[in-house]
Amino acid sequence: MSDSIEAEVVLSQSEHLPAVDVWLVVDILRATTVMVRWFEAGGGALYPAKSTDDALRIARGLEEMGETPLLMGERNAVAPQGFDLGNSPLSITRELCGKYSCAVMATTNGTKALLKAAVTGAPVLVACARNVVAALDRALTKGRRIGIFCSGREGRPAWDDTLCAGLMVSCLAERFSGMHLADGARLALLAYQGARDFRASLETADHALFLKQIGFEDDIACAAEIDVAQSVPGLHEIPGEDGPMACLREDCAPLTSEAHSSLRASAAEGESR
Ligand code: MLT
Repeated sequence: MSDSIEAEVVLSQSEHLPAVDVWLVVDILRATTVMVRWFEAGGGALYPAKSTDDALRIARGLEEMGETPLLMGERNAVAPQGFDLGNSPLSITRELCGKYSCAVMATTNGTKALLKAAVTGAPVLVACARNVVAALDRALTKGRRIGIFCSGREGRPAWDDTLCAGLMVSCLAERFSGMHLADGARLALLAYQGARDFRASLETADHALFLKQIGFEDDIACAAEIDVAQSVPGLHEIPGEDGPMACLREDCAPLTSEAHSSLRASAAEGESR
């Protein structure tokens, strides 16, 4: 099994998406961290939107269907006009989730990456440091070619997502010693292996510095927590008023004991680096 596992890492949305058996989409600061927190807190279906206008349209459609959607996301890291909430994972609480039947989310990079991955037809899962073990374990049930898609920033690689992808590749490589690493996966792994401390390295990313500058430093600490969540949101297609819609639902599979122990051990190693 080890020799047949392959890891692909796509470092930005400007790149071609190769054929894989499953995509793990990463936007650790902060879209996929928020998505995992939403499901950790008991949130309902989450509809990713490609733009703020698209999000407003989806939310209106859901309201007409009797839903009570939370409209959340960011432009330049703060809530767009007309949205209920911005994009801080620390704003996502059980109390908040209890007030809404579902959520609609639009962010600068993360929701776009999810929708791009959906077009490939491969299963799409949401990953970040918080659910790294559960996400990899779930991905391994989908096939042997594991794709990690970094949202990046405005079409360019981002240190934060590359570092998180490196953590994920490291967890896989620890478990599958003979696995094949495509070039992007090797680059991400080297970035991770060169970082002495995951959180400290994450804090040096351009977007982390910007978030810190505008008062969201605590979001970085939340995003840097490794393997603290079991939620693995998965993208599903559901019929909508104007045709099929993409929505995220809880896709948490029971961790297999073997997967659990080896992936968890390497994730823990990531924390103590
Ligand atoms: C993104 O999509 O680029 C991020 O979610 C931005 C953010 O949350 O600040």
